[in-house]
Amino acid sequence: MKGVLLSGGTGSRLRPITHTGPKQLVPVANKPVLEYAIEDLKEAGITKIGIILGNKGREEIQDILGDGSKYGVDITYIVQGNPLGLAHAAGCARDFVGDDDFVMYLGDNILKSGVRDLVESFEAGDYGAGIALQKVDDPQAFGIADVDDNGNVMELIEKPDDPPTNLALIGVYVFSPAVFDAIDELEPSWRGELEITDAIQSLLEDGHAIDSHVVTGWWKDTGKPEDILEANRLVLEDQALDTAGVIEDGAETDGRIQLADSATIEDGAVVRGPVSIAADTTIKAGTYVGPYTSIGANCILENIHIENSVVIGDSMITANGRIVDSLLGRNADVESAEKLLPEGRRLVVGENSQLKL
Ligand code: G1P
Repeated sequence: MKGVLLSGGTGSRLRPITHTGPKQLVPVANKPVLEYAIEDLKEAGITKIGIILGNKGREEIQDILGDGSKYGVDITYIVQGNPLGLAHAAGCARDFVGDDDFVMYLGDNILKSGVRDLVESFEAGDYGAGIALQKVDDPQAFGIADVDDNGNVMELIEKPDDPPTNLALIGVYVFSPAVFDAIDELEPSWRGELEITDAIQSLLEDGHAIDSHVVTGWWKDTGKPEDILEANRLVLEDQALDTAGVIEDGAETDGRIQLADSATIEDGAVVRGPVSIAADTTIKAGTYVGPYTSIGANCILENIHIENSVVIGDSMITANGRIVDSLLGRNADVESAEKLLPEGRRLVVGENSQLKL
């Protein structure tokens, strides 16, 4: 069994964060989303992983993941180029996959329980594909499976107007190489993409059995800023306590705090977990870091109260004020303008930013 990780797409719903990098490298609890998928594949015993690269952030992804040896896996990079759909991306892995079965994992998805159950269930039978499902509130936004009482897959429809169920295909699939012939026959959908849901439907129509597996535990597609914040909350909720850094006398800390060994919480600061603070970051006096916040590497926080937020890294946040429910890109600085006249917000904001003042 091999792994194919999809890391293309434009990341348009995560702008401006994705103006400068791929969405799959946005950190959740101070770890790029893509690394969670690599760890899940490794945990399921899959060490040969092909990563499909789009047009954005190719070098950055390769710089961070390298040949995979730091994760104990062997990574091969495959260029998809323009995003023509998930089935097109899967089709690019044909030579890499050869005659093996493979797990296809959307690199912007993150799930609590990993992929091992899905892989074991697929391997226990004779299936053309295995799909992971979870109930959603907005089935029109996903690929949806119609499943009978015994769990047999009857039909798969991409973003149906009139969904037969609310069981969504989440971003993890297992395929036999038969999927490549199904992909070859596909026509673009109404949104101009080759849909992986249509490829699985075609396997079904060709007489292949499809294994379905309802995933327990949370799953998040991190396509939008609020999804990143939610994924961050979910991961921090589960994280172990690991305070390798310096907590000065007089600092007040509560709850689970992940503190990198070169990070410091100074005298007079208050940190209430679950919180993750990365390397070389200093939380100074007068700062409050509240639950469900991840502060990336090389930041200085002073005076600010911040909660339920993700700061990606290399930031100076020294304003007097409160930041909640926020996602701050790399190198974003937030300083106080109190002594300047005229009074008012002073903003240098990138394209597609969203501010609530
Ligand atoms: C894609 C798939 C869809 C699946 C979803 C899971 O949707 O087309 O079938 O349910 O991922 O995240 P997209 O993110 O392209 O809208």
